[in-house]
Amino acid sequence: MSNIIKCRAAVSWKAGEKLIIEEVEVSPPKSGEVRVKVVATGLCFSDIASISGKVRGKFPGIYGHEGSGIIESVGEDVTNLQPGDHVLIVFLPQCRKCRVCVAGVGNACLDFMKYGLTGLMKDGTSRITCRGQEIYNFMGTSTFTEYTVVSVNNCVKINPQAPLEKTCLLSCGVPTGYGGAINSAKVREGSTCAVFGLGAIGLATVMGCHAMKASKIVAIDINSDKFEIAKKLGATDCVNPKELDMPIADYLKKNFQGGVDFSFECVGLMETINQAFDSIIIGHGVCVLIGIAPSDKTINIVPVQLQVGKSVVGSFYGGYKTQDDIPRLVDQFVDGKLDLESFITHQMRLEDINDAIDLLKDGKCIRTVINL
Ligand SMILES: NC(=O)c1ccc[n+]([C@@H]2O[C@H](COP(=O)([O-])OP(=O)(O)OC[C@H]3O[C@@H](n4cnc5c(N)ncnc54)[C@H](O)[C@@H]3O)[C@@H](O)[C@H]2O)c1
Ligand SMILES: [Zn+2]
Ligand SMILES: [Zn+2]
Repeated sequence: MSNIIKCRAAVSWKAGEKLIIEEVEVSPPKSGEVRVKVVATGLCFSDIASISGKVRGKFPGIYGHEGSGIIESVGEDVTNLQPGDHVLIVFLPQCRKCRVCVAGVGNACLDFMKYGLTGLMKDGTSRITCRGQEIYNFMGTSTFTEYTVVSVNNCVKINPQAPLEKTCLLSCGVPTGYGGAINSAKVREGSTCAVFGLGAIGLATVMGCHAMKASKIVAIDINSDKFEIAKKLGATDCVNPKELDMPIADYLKKNFQGGVDFSFECVGLMETINQAFDSIIIGHGVCVLIGIAPSDKTINIVPVQLQVGKSVVGSFYGGYKTQDDIPRLVDQFVDGKLDLESFITHQMRLEDINDAIDLLKDGKCIRTVINL
């Protein structure tokens, strides 16, 4: 049995405060768990929202959920993974045992619903301590640390040829948007799409709409700096709502014969959710909700809007089932069929993580990859 590992991690002691680089102790994995040497991690807006204390954050905690690494040791009974395996650390498990996994239709594994937001392992304890205190995990992952312990269900074995400092983006951002277009919306060839918000999630959505051969992809953001990369990934039109003399939904209805076929909300604000729903065509328009809105807010929809054929669907991790689908996306990347490089605008060390947070908050990066 392996011992406690002492390593560096970025600890969030209190909501809204800067992360502090600390020495932490990482216990060996228990039954059904693995300890992973984290190689790289992205920083997603969901980390920032939680670190700020606005949603579901637990303190003291270690955040980060877009990670890749190499298995260091495995707990008792673990047979599907072994030391040396290359893995992605994913917040969404696919346990293959719960009612949702067995039904095989959706991807919201009940393991996530039950344990994902507790900040603890399934047995109700933590594997990481710092200065004598137990540290909470984030969505069963925690990747802002050199070593982490996760359930086998939160670990996906991948092709060892894939560079881990790039594939970490397949642990959240890229599949979330790409699959939002491909799986959740099932964008039709020749259709018109509007994507609200051009962070990594919205840009991956643009890439997904392009892969599905949409004829028009309107990329929308209040920060025009995002347009260049949106065009590179397939946007046909770029619109800054601040520069219009009418509401964005009216603009889309006016220019796309009553509205677009598909709209995607990739910001997480009630304002943009309403705009995205308002922008779709009556009859068959589909509005896909990807951004995570505050949990105390509700959507107001006039029922007749649905009766005349508009619909709203949610998308979680792009509708992908992590164990089944993510290795395939990694292979697509290795084969040069999936662009991850365009999303990586910055690379940093763990010491500079607070700068990486500021860059994302200020809209100055798409993804910063932290190399551990
Ligand atoms: N559904 C899922 O499974 C899932 C997974 C990961 C992240 N998310 C969520 O997706 C959202 C986007 O994440 P991200 O990392 O790309 O964030 P990001 O901050 O990088 O991108 C958000 C973009 O929205 C733009 N924006 C802000 N207000 C706007 C407005 N009024 N109109 C148009 N654009 C506006 C910003 O300028 C920015 O470019 C977040 O809410 C995040 O929590 C969802
Ligand atoms: Zn994320
Ligand atoms: Zn399950």
